[in-house]
Amino acid sequence: MPVPGPGYSITIRVEAPPSASAAGDLTSAVGRVGGVITAFDVVESHADRVVVDITCNATSAEHANEITAGLEELPGVAVRKVSDRTFLIHLGGKLEVHSKVALRNRDDLSRAYTPGVARVCMAIAKNPEDARRLTIKRNTVAVVTDGSAVLGLGNIGPAAALPVMEGKAVLFKKFADVDAWPIVLDTQDTDEIIRTVELIAPAYAGINLEDIAAPRCFEIEARLREKLDIPVFHDDQHGTAIVVVAALRNALKVVGKPLEQCKIVVCGVGAAGSAIIRLLLHKKPADIIAVDINGIVHAERGDLDSNLESIAAHTNKDGMSGSLHDALVGADVFIGVSAPNLFGAAQVATMAKDAVVFALANPDPEIDPLEAQQHAAVVATGRSDYPNQINNVLAFPGVFRGLLDAHAHTITDSMLLAAADAIADVADGDRINASFIVPSVFDAAVAPAVAEAVRKAATTKD
Ligand SMILES: NC(=O)c1ccc[n+]([C@@H]2O[C@H](COP(=O)([O-])OP(=O)(O)OC[C@H]3O[C@@H](n4cnc5c(N)ncnc54)[C@H](O)[C@@H]3O)[C@@H](O)[C@H]2O)c1
Repeated sequence: MPVPGPGYSITIRVEAPPSASAAGDLTSAVGRVGGVITAFDVVESHADRVVVDITCNATSAEHANEITAGLEELPGVAVRKVSDRTFLIHLGGKLEVHSKVALRNRDDLSRAYTPGVARVCMAIAKNPEDARRLTIKRNTVAVVTDGSAVLGLGNIGPAAALPVMEGKAVLFKKFADVDAWPIVLDTQDTDEIIRTVELIAPAYAGINLEDIAAPRCFEIEARLREKLDIPVFHDDQHGTAIVVVAALRNALKVVGKPLEQCKIVVCGVGAAGSAIIRLLLHKKPADIIAVDINGIVHAERGDLDSNLESIAAHTNKDGMSGSLHDALVGADVFIGVSAPNLFGAAQVATMAKDAVVFALANPDPEIDPLEAQQHAAVVATGRSDYPNQINNVLAFPGVFRGLLDAHAHTITDSMLLAAADAIADVADGDRINASFIVPSVFDAAVAPAVAEAVRKAATTKD
């Protein structure tokens, strides 16, 4: 059942009689319909009335309406205005440009702009690598989307994707001091996307592809990696894979199983699942069984595209066929990046002893975590209201910080694995247990540790 959260936080301005019981009546009315009050401010006080701002969390837009209606029903109470705090922080967008140089007089102007700037231009024309030293390229990443697979909202297009991309840029800045800028493209044509990113690349030291639907995302990333001399990273793939590999290392430590002896079921072989499988294969598990909407992936299935063909070639050693439920029997680990409510406690009971269940479909996981806990030893989800949240923000800011610091031209799986180990290390030690396999997204140690690990991996010659 959803709990009231800050994603649906509203401030309701109400006028009420100045009686001794007014505050109690108002807060009880909110509580009666399940709202959670986070602030109560008297903004005006008169002989005949008080005006109060009640800020509270709801579970949905409909629930916010119910809370408002509950207040309106109180005798003598009038609702003046309802502000949705999430919409308020989006007014005019979440980002702006600040100048790093002062322009106080003609001297400053001559250095920051013409004629002085011309000498800097010529230095870069002579030695293009100087762009990293003398321009914003040094610290800037493009967050590129076509709006085709935005959160769980689907293909909502570039303009509607912009608030998510702005949010991503804010996270880059907050956690790793990376200047990221959203680029939302008004095309979903693979060739056009690739050509556009190629054309804008000179100003950036890295490209973060975001919310581009599978299977198009695989080709776009692969071709851009070939064409560009800066790292290209699709966060929905590799950010997820890094955090899953980190969490799995610690989960298996909790249950005392070596990864090399584990049978792992990965349900969902889209952007996230394919990247998770590819990164996990470096760890040489006993076997991985991939499952998608059409069942277990095996070479003879007859409906495989090139991505699934390559997955089939490296997984499912015994050529097993069947459903997710078949795959789960005897499995040590379940990793779900697919769809909500695919199985229950009965299927977890068929898994091996001390099973690990990562049910990451958002917002509703493959199995209710409380059901999974009946038989699994460690459970993780993508949600912030349960322990063990698998969240890409643990990875991408530090990954790009490390790439930028190393002046990296490419990104490799060794860098991704180094990032995973760094995240796992931050949580490891005497802190890990079944409810703590990954650090908090607000743990200030994570991004610097990931950055350093990636920087080292990027500057180490194999
Ligand atoms: N950190 C996280 O928690 C995290 C990160 C990435 C993705 N996710 C979640 O994982 C899910 C998938 O994301 P994606 O970007 O890879 O999507 P995608 O569309 O690229 O892939 C979805 C995959 O799930 C499979 N699938 C769909 N319905 C299924 C069913 N009923 N049974 C089995 N397989 C089914 C599809 O066949 C496909 O392989 C989403 O819910 C997303 O929010 C969570």
